[in-house]
Amino acid sequence: MQDDGGRRLRLCPAAEVPEGGGRGFVFGRMPEEFRVFVIRWQGELRAYENACPHAGVSLDWTPDRFFDRTGDLLICALHGARFRPDDGLCVAGPCRGLRLPALALECDGDGVLHAIRPD
Ligand code: FES
Repeated sequence: MQDDGGRRLRLCPAAEVPEGGGRGFVFGRMPEEFRVFVIRWQGELRAYENACPHAGVSLDWTPDRFFDRTGDLLICALHGARFRPDDGLCVAGPCRGLRLPALALECDGDGVLHAIRPD
């Protein structure tokens, strides 16, 4: 995956993110890697840092699988924390009340999504 070296991270064409699904991306290399995922839920695209507030691991142990069986909540595969897709708030599990860090999303003229990494 490309990284322009700055805060603006090229993800994928928006059309490649299905309703009720997501895609994960890794930028850089350990120990400096930065993990991001983008989801589409109820027609809205959102991006979060792919780091569970409980222990910092990626939520998806199966690549690109971020939603639980209900399709209404995001899930961390390690200890089962559940997060609201619209704002990343943890509503169940060991990090209840904490949030997934949200990233701003931009769509360029070619329909490609870019996440804006915080300072
Ligand atoms: S690391 Fe995500 S719930 Fe424990």
